[in-house]
This record gives sequence, C-alpha cells and structure tokens, in this order.
Amino acid sequence: MKAVEVAPKIYCVRANIGSRDLFEGIWPIPHGVSLNSYVVRGEKIALIDLVKDWEHAVDSITEQMASIGVTVSDIDYLIINHMEPDHTGWLAEMRKKNPEMEILCTKKAVPLVAAFYGIEEGVRAVGSGDTLDLGGITLQFEDTPNIHWPETMMTYEPASGTLFSCDGFGAFGQVGEHLFDDQLTEEEHEFFARETERYYANIVSTFSGFVEKGIRKLSSLEIRMIAPSHGVIWRKDPKKIIDHYQKLASYKIGPAEQEVTIVWSSMYGNTEQLLEHVIAGVASEGIPVHVHRVPQEHVSFVLASAWRSSGIIVGTPTYEYKMFPPMYAVLDIFERSHLLNRKTMRFGSYGWSGGAKKQYDEFLSAMKWDCIGAVEYQGAPSQEDKEQAYEMAKELARQVKAWK
Ligand SMILES: Cc1cc2nc3c(=O)[nH]c(=O)nc-3n(C[C@H](O)[C@H](O)[C@H](O)COP(=O)(O)O)c2cc1C
Ligand SMILES: [Fe+2]
Ligand SMILES: [Fe+2]
Repeated sequence: MKAVEVAPKIYCVRANIGSRDLFEGIWPIPHGVSLNSYVVRGEKIALIDLVKDWEHAVDSITEQMASIGVTVSDIDYLIINHMEPDHTGWLAEMRKKNPEMEILCTKKAVPLVAAFYGIEEGVRAVGSGDTLDLGGITLQFEDTPNIHWPETMMTYEPASGTLFSCDGFGAFGQVGEHLFDDQLTEEEHEFFARETERYYANIVSTFSGFVEKGIRKLSSLEIRMIAPSHGVIWRKDPKKIIDHYQKLASYKIGPAEQEVTIVWSSMYGNTEQLLEHVIAGVASEGIPVHVHRVPQEHVSFVLASAWRSSGIIVGTPTYEYKMFPPMYAVLDIFERSHLLNRKTMRFGSYGWSGGAKKQYDEFLSAMKWDCIGAVEYQGAPSQEDKEQAYEMAKELARQVKAWK
C-alpha cells in the first residue's frame, strides 16, 4: 500500500488489523480495525498518531511513508492526540530510532508518556489554541478530554479544514482501497454505519457527555474533512459522521430508536419457553426486535443493539440465589456504558427460592430504567405466564413507540 494524499501536504499511512485479536483485550473485531496515522509535510514533518506493533502495523506505515520519501528519522514532531497504546505502542522504539523527534501532547498526557514509555525528555505540552508552524502548513490543537481518555486532544489543519480526531468519529472495520466517504458504495456505507455503532457502544459510550461537549466545542472550527485514526476519512460529508456521533451520544439518556433488544439466557429451557411469546408481543406492535442469547453471543454485539434500543427485555433464570452469571456480566457492562433510562421488563424461571430479582433491581436503579413488570415463575411457565409475557412485551413496545 502507498501513502494516500488526503489534502495538500497531508498523507494518510495506515494498517489494517485482522480479526484474530480482541480490541482492548475484550471486544471482538470480526471485520478487523484500521489504525490510521497522518504525515503532515511542511518544511518540517509531523506524524499525527502512531500505531502499536500489531500485525505488522509498524512495517505497514513505514513502508507507506517510504512511498512519499519519508523515513522515521525524518519526523520532526510526533503528535499524540491520545495515549492509548493502539496509537502509541511503538513510541519507545520510535524514539530510539529518532532521538531528535519532539513529542507533542496535552499536559495530562505528559506524565503518561513517562509512565508508559519512560520518556521524559523532548516532550512538549500543548493545548487548545496552541499552534505548530511546520513551514508552509500549520497545525492547531484542541483539548477534547475523555474522547476517549482524559488526556485526549484533536489536531486541526486550517488550510484544508482537516480535523485529526483520533478515536472520535472512528469505527471498527478494515478500510480497503476505498478510504474516503465519497468512494464508498452504498453497501460499504451501511457496513461502516454498523461498525461505527458497535465501536461507539463498546469504546465511546461511557463518555457520551464528553462527546456532546466536544462536538459543541469543535463547532467553532470550519471542519471540511474528518480524518480519524480508525475508519474512513470523511471529506465529502463530514457532517454525516458528526451527526451520527451526536445521535449515538443522545441515546445515553434516550429516547434511542423505537426498537427493542431482548437479551436472554437459559440453562435447561424453562426461561427460553417464554421467549417466543415475548418476541411475538413486541413484534405485534410492528417495531424491530433484536434477540441475543448470552453467553453464546458476545456482549459487544448485545451492547451495540441495546445502545440503539429504547426498550430492553431481560430473560434470566436464578442461579445460586442470584442472576445467571453471564447475564450479570452483560448488565454490568451496560451499567459501565451508562446505558440509561430504558423501558424494560424481565422474565425468567427459578427452582425454589428465586434471587435474580434482587440483582436486577439494583441495576434498574443504577441505570434509572423504567421497569413495567416481570414474569417470573417456578419451573416451567404456565399458559397464563405465556399470555402475561405476550401482553407485557406488547405494552413495552407501545411505550417505546410513544417515547419521543
Ligand atoms: C447451578 C444451579 C443453581 C441454581 N440456583 C438456584 C437458586 O439459587 N435458587 C433458585 O430458586 N433456583 C436455582 N436454580 C434452579 C433454576 O433457577 C431453575 O432450574 C430454572 O428453571 C432454570 O431456568 P432455565 O431452564 O431457563 O435455565 C439453580 C439451578 C442450577 C443449575
Ligand atoms: Fe482510545
Ligand atoms: Fe483508538
């Protein structure tokens, strides 16, 4: 692959990571992920965001840099928008190869550069309003804390109106030859919309308030292109990805989409017996229903579908006087992601005492969910339980439709 010119004096160099590893050690990436870095070439040369040496990512970006005649030792400035190792992992090695290179990052990132990579010299703190004149092209910096870590910033190039947004406005999914939004087919647009949503739910959702704040702050810039460090570059319609992020951030407190996510588990089929009635109840109101079984399905996908759904139905048996453990893990992730204010109901079977309810109720109050009721029964469900579950799910769907 060659470096791709994205604007005069600005080039994208990137690596596509496959599906073998989990992102952040937790999230599956069946369609991989891209790591994008940017070379900005004035009289001095800056590299914006680095990679970690993951599936030959370093070889990829250095090879692409070579295609425009730039080597690692030619880099005068390394701009670190964000300290997470997917964008800094190779830092110590790079510094060894190029001891003269100055590292620019936010004040909050300076101690992290020392703690993660033992680098204390040649690090300059920059923040909102600061600029870097490369000779013929200038970069400016904007603090955008907590998109994704507290030390995060974005970099802006005014002549082309390019915003180097790092994790912000990013997506999962490998990026092929079609690097720009205007090159994507309709199918590829749909693919990246889905990969954006799962990336957002998995990586960014906890920080939705900061995303909203960041978007407000960035509105003072004339953004003509969004160049993130994961995913495609938005040069035709940067507003599209900003609006998508804005919408995803607003799902935090709801309403989200008029859709219902059902997440269920069952050991011996007793909880499962209600499933079809619950699905039928929601479907009778004509709204989309997403059904996920755990632990069979990874929470990454459950979270993505729950994030976009105004209604969430939880089906879980009791296990050792508590909720079935994989369901607890799912609700714990929901809570960490600040999946607030959903309309919900619960169903499930127990053997002799019950116990799932207590833990569920704790999640209800932590996430401020509005629970319309529960259908819980000993052993197998009766005909009455099935009818009640249908009616309750139907009512939930009605409330989801009415929530605007
Ligand atoms: C390992 C294990 C632990 C259980 N612990 C409890 C319990 O603490 N209290 C209870 O009421 N039922 C308990 N049960 C019974 C289940 O909740 C009951 O069998 C229920 O019908 C399972 O629903 P399912 O078929 O959907 O998995 C337990 C069952 C298993 C297998
Ligand atoms: Fe990150
Ligand atoms: Fe990242």
